[in-house]
Amino acid sequence: MNFDFYTAIAFSGQLEMNSSIKVVYQKTPVLIVRTSKGIFAYEDYCPHRGLALSKGKIINGEISCKYHGWTFDSESGFNTNIPVKQGKIDCQLKRFFVYEKYGLIWLSTNQKAQIPELSEQKAQIFLKGNISAQLPNVLENFLEGSHTHYVHDGLIRTKEKKRNLIQAKIIKSENGFQVFYEHEPAKGFVTKILPKKWQQLKAVSTYIHPGIAVLEYFNTENKAVSRFEAIVNENENGVEYFARIFLDISWITPMLIPFAKQMFKKIIQQDKDILELQETNLVEFPEKRFVSDETDMVGKYIYAFQTGKNSELKSEVNFNVHW
Ligand code: FES
Ligand SMILES: [Fe+2]
Repeated sequence: MNFDFYTAIAFSGQLEMNSSIKVVYQKTPVLIVRTSKGIFAYEDYCPHRGLALSKGKIINGEISCKYHGWTFDSESGFNTNIPVKQGKIDCQLKRFFVYEKYGLIWLSTNQKAQIPELSEQKAQIFLKGNISAQLPNVLENFLEGSHTHYVHDGLIRTKEKKRNLIQAKIIKSENGFQVFYEHEPAKGFVTKILPKKWQQLKAVSTYIHPGIAVLEYFNTENKAVSRFEAIVNENENGVEYFARIFLDISWITPMLIPFAKQMFKKIIQQDKDILELQETNLVEFPEKRFVSDETDMVGKYIYAFQTGKNSELKSEVNFNVHW
């Protein structure tokens, strides 16, 4: 069982050729550079007097410090020149392992860490942001459906309509779980605008420990209509998310993308608002006490993985929800 995954830290599109970005990885500021030699990551710290290298520039493929002009080779991190000396010194920047895949930039301090398996397809919508809440609560929100009638009332589902009994099955895997739901009739605006044969949708939610939530919808022909991937990590402000969204609703898909992007933005904003309200109140009541029932299976599994108690979970459980 390998839980040591690279952390998604930025979208590839955020880092242009011959430039750098600053990110924070496990509380450490990190400089990521892209030059013709590839993509590299170093501690955002000039070994000379400690200035953030991200304040400097990338010149001729080298990282140049803003304070006294020391330069470092982008590929090796070795010092290449000290202007006042007209020579170099044997010193090297502290390296992080960096990898680019799925349109994302991933970081780790462990070279052997893995990149989680996501869709190889090209996402049509990319969204990112920050939620001031705790990781398990964010993951639960992304993966469970019972809040959708309230928080996304009228958009995904609605609290007005009579509810349907939906059978669900949760299956535990080595590094996460999947939940398979039965087909359900279209309820909210987003699903109702779909062509008829796409209106009966079946949800499958997937969790990959420690920070990936995937929500897919399939039509009655078992064709994936939409896939929402949230790749999240914890930082000092709560949780940072990178969302990749895929849509496939016949030939009309390209025309729907700009509209869908606004919808997803709105949906995520609604989740962010409720999660931050929840977090504000959890701070008032620090002793964690949640009452859960069998319909909270998704949360139960997430909390178990997050606290290392996943071996106590059953490998398969059937449960019902009224959606
Ligand atoms: S602090 Fe970077 S060159 Fe002096
Ligand atoms: Fe939601």
